Amino acid sequence: MNRTLLIAAFAGIIGFNMAFAADETMHHGNHQHEMDMMDTRTSLGLSPQMKQHQLSNMRGHVEAIKTITGLMAENKFDEASQVAHTQLGLTPEMQSMCDMFGNEYFRKLGYAFHKSGDDLGDVLKTKNINKSLRALNKTMQYCVECHATFRQ
Ligand code: HEC
Repeated sequence: MNRTLLIAAFAGIIGFNMAFAADETMHHGNHQHEMDMMDTRTSLGLSPQMKQHQLSNMRGHVEAIKTITGLMAENKFDEASQVAHTQLGLTPEMQSMCDMFGNEYFRKLGYAFHKSGDDLGDVLKTKNINKSLRALNKTMQYCVECHATFRQ
């Protein structure tokens, strides 16, 4: 292969790769757009930073539920109650988190959810497993309801 041919071949490869990369980006972009269009939940319109903050807060919520059920299984109701109050209850930190999003219905749902976390904490103190499960079920109903209504 002479020099000119070699350069032409390289240019061809690079050109092809660039076109391929651009195509990939477009597909990815379209795919994201289609996903958003299909999702009919109300968007909170969060900034990337707020998104990360909310998701990490949410992962804390699943962890709290896991810890509470584990403690209940070991009859450690007082400890479970404390987790419910501190991790799921309406603490000042959770209040300001719910206030942050600028959506009144989200705020109401968030407050009702955290209030139910405190109720759960109170019921756990009675050490009654059935009542506690009922209270946990009520708290988790808010997880389900909010996730069905809102997205980031
Ligand atoms: C008041 C509203 C609200 C309540 C209540 C709520 N969440 Fe969420 N949660 C959200 C939103 C909004 C998202 C983002 C969902 C999206 O954009 O698809 C989310 C996302 C999550 C995620 C995804 C985290 C990640 O890293 O991807 C988990 C897990 C989660 N929530 C768990 C819970 C659990 C468990 C509960 C109840 C104990 C709960 N949430 C209660 C609003 C709520």
